This record gives sequence, structure tokens and C-alpha cells, in this order.
Amino acid sequence: MRRFITADEVRKAAREASGGEKAFIYAEKEDVVTDEARDMARTLGVVISSEITRRPCICANFKMNGGPGFMDKYAAELASCLAQFYPEYAAETDVVVAPPAPLVPVALALSNKKAIYSVAGQNCYIKESGAFTGEVSPYLLRECGADYVIIGHSERRKLFAETDALVAQKLKIAIDAGLTPIMCLGENIDDRKTAKTFAVIAQMLTALYSIPIEYSKKVILAYEPVWAIGTGMNASSEQIAEVCAFIRKNIMVKLGVDFSNAIRILYGGSVNETNALEIAVIKGIDGALVGGASLKAVNFAKIIAAFKTDARSN
Ligand code: PGA
Repeated sequence: MRRFITADEVRKAAREASGGEKAFIYAEKEDVVTDEARDMARTLGVVISSEITRRPCICANFKMNGGPGFMDKYAAELASCLAQFYPEYAAETDVVVAPPAPLVPVALALSNKKAIYSVAGQNCYIKESGAFTGEVSPYLLRECGADYVIIGHSERRKLFAETDALVAQKLKIAIDAGLTPIMCLGENIDDRKTAKTFAVIAQMLTALYSIPIEYSKKVILAYEPVWAIGTGMNASSEQIAEVCAFIRKNIMVKLGVDFSNAIRILYGGSVNETNALEIAVIKGIDGALVGGASLKAVNFAKIIAAFKTDARSN
């Protein structure tokens, strides 16, 4: 999947940059930037992203499914399938499982000291402790062994009216508690039909910009078009690549090119064992957030294996 970045592409990027915005070309580590392209970029003031490798992160989101018995079988099956399909996965990827909150310590214990997977919460509240019946403290999640927490999932935004401001508060306290947030963002079907996808994504990214930069650096993003979640209708490679490029460009403008290169962006929305490789090779996508298909350990293991370094660079 190696790409050559030419002087023509640099000229095109310069032409297309609008309204004083800096032109930007996003290059992956394996891409080749020709000498002419570098000279042209210097002359026209086009930024070509520095080369960087981002470690894939593949996260299972069980949602409100599973119990202790299920978790027990799942952990054993996942370990044996991974040993079969991708024995070196732990050295190359971050594998995360997000069970319902009461199962966090159970999932952790079954992971054999995080040897199989790390554990995530699916949500957390904006306070450390207190009179907030039914809520889960990020500090408690951390104490119970979670390393990650999903923040701003579309189901939370839609069913529990979570706003960008609340998402920003959650990001901040989750990081204070020592968790890595996986922040979800994505347009719904009406947004897409009315060409508002980019506007909606830009608005959701404000949560990332409203926390101090040392905090933003710890965030993982998950692009999850709402219309693709649980529908069996994943976004096309072109749609995913286009939104991912938009996200990196928006971040580049706000937080700089190094930041935009380093942040990990996962894709979520009907990822399964059949389409995972197609998604894994998309430029700029660094992993997956998997709902339904992650409930079968064998399928989740196949999805993880799609992010093998050699499979992706073929
Ligand atoms: P799905 O869910 O894989 O079932 O579409 C993804 C998610 O909601 O994170």
C-alpha cells in the first residue's frame, strides 16, 4: 500500500487550501516523498506530515451483554484463538476488552495480569465520588484494573443526552484518574444525507480542544458513523478514509502537525471478521472499536489478526 507523494500532489494541496489555511499532506511511514515534492512543499509552504508509526488498538465493546460465566469462557477462547491466528499480537497491538462495569475486575483477573488483553470501562462519571447514584467513578474503574475508558459513545450521546461539554469533562477526569480515553465521534444518517458530516465531526472534536494539550495527547479517537453501528452496514473504505483525513487535518490546524500524526484513530461500526482487513489497510486508521462481532472470541481474534503489521503492508 506504499504511496508516492509527488510535486503535483503538493501543488494540488496548495491550490486546494482555502482561506489562509495551511496546506497539508498526510503521509504514512511507508510512503515515499520524492525530492521534487519536498522542494515544492518548501516553496509553497505545504506541510508534509512527519513519518510515524502508530500502534494499532483493537477494542471489544460488549455493551450491555455478558456475565461472569460468559467472560470466563471468552477469555480462555480469545487466548487460544490469538495463539493460533496471531501469536505475536501482544508485541504489536493493544488489545482491549470493555465489558459492563461490574465485570471489569472479573475480566482483569481472567486476563492473566493483562497478558491477554487490557480492560476498559464503557463510560464513567465526571466526579471522583459522592452522591451520584448509579454512576461509575473513573477512579474506581482504575482501581479495579481498567486502563481505558470509552467516552462519548453515540449510544450515550443519544440515549443519555451526553453533550460535547460533558464529553470534555469526562475526558479530563478519566485522564486524571490514570485511564486512557477512547473518545467516539461520528455523524448520523441525516447529517450524512445533508452533507453535514464534516461540520458534525468538527463540532465533536471541540471536546478534544477544550482540555489542556497534555490531556488531549492521551486521547484515542474512534470514528463511528452512527448509521453504521449495529446495522451490518459498515462505512466504505473511501468514506472512512475521507473522514479520517478530515479529522487529522482539523487536528493539524488546531494542535499542530506532530499531534495530528501521533493521535490514534480507530474505526467502529459493523466491523466484523470479514471486513476487518479492508478496514485495517485504510490510510490513517489505527484499529477498531468492535461491538456485535466482538462477542464471539474467535471473531474478535480474527479482527485483531487483520491488524497484523505484515498483513497491512501487503
Ligand atoms: P457494532 O458496534 O460493531 O456492533 O456496529 C460498534 C460500537 O458501537 O462501538
